[in-house]
Amino acid sequence: MRVIQTVEQLQLAITNDGHNKKIVFVPTMGALHDGHLSLLSKARETDNAFVILSIFVNPTQFGKNEDFDKYPRVLETDLELLESQTDKPDLVFAPGVDQVYPEGLPEQLVPRAGAVGSVFEGVTRPGHFDGMLHVVHWFFSAIKPDVAIFGEKDAQQLYLIRRMVKREFADQIEIHAGQTVRDADGLALSSRNSYLSTEARKIAPEIYRTLIKVQAELQAGENFEQVLDKARLALSSLPLAKLDYLALVDKATFQPISAGFTGSAQLLVALNLDGVRLIDNITFSIQELA
Ligand code: PAF
Repeated sequence: MRVIQTVEQLQLAITNDGHNKKIVFVPTMGALHDGHLSLLSKARETDNAFVILSIFVNPTQFGKNEDFDKYPRVLETDLELLESQTDKPDLVFAPGVDQVYPEGLPEQLVPRAGAVGSVFEGVTRPGHFDGMLHVVHWFFSAIKPDVAIFGEKDAQQLYLIRRMVKREFADQIEIHAGQTVRDADGLALSSRNSYLSTEARKIAPEIYRTLIKVQAELQAGENFEQVLDKARLALSSLPLAKLDYLALVDKATFQPISAGFTGSAQLLVALNLDGVRLIDNITFSIQELA
């Protein structure tokens, strides 16, 4: 496992060591946990893979009042963890801000996330998806991966990346989704879980329990508006909790669905627990939404 910091080193490594191999890219912001490690295992499912993992806390995807400065940066620990894995990457690319933004942070971020970038996560995190797409586009252009792997937990991010690959990369990068990894009690793993107080950590598994309950009720044919309202009330009533959204969307379009819908639905949630914003989602099929 080699660790490099510059675009020049990246391109040399791809030419020399990635030659005749499938370039598989796993982008991260570090503070690695089992969720990231599962993406690395998925990367090794590609035959003859040259796996590149990036670690970069991207300033343009954090809003002014967000946790950019506080975001955990633990490169040494991350590298030790990666080195101890059977499915370790071939290359770790950990560029500094000066490599990704050599001319300073851009005023105009491209490509834009558009309308889908302004709903759900985009309401509380305006500009977040523009910054995320910008940096992922930058990495894709520098690495030119055959395959890139993203976690399903960030459903809106995954949807927007798939759309960008269609629009900007002529669908030439295969996007693979890694299943959300959960603690034994159901809490989706996230680098932000480390901010949870003991009390908030006890309450957090209610998020996933609620998603599963909603799925069961919808699949049993209960009225979707009533089911969602009941679940919203239950989540808002949790101690220390402030519900941001609970919504049901069509997985193919990311648009909210209503009665009569048939197909693959995604149930999305964002809940603020004692100051820590947690997101989660599940996907399931619906015969006909009541
Ligand atoms: O999901 C993340 O960790 C980030 O949004 C990503 C994709 C690495 C871009 O900075």
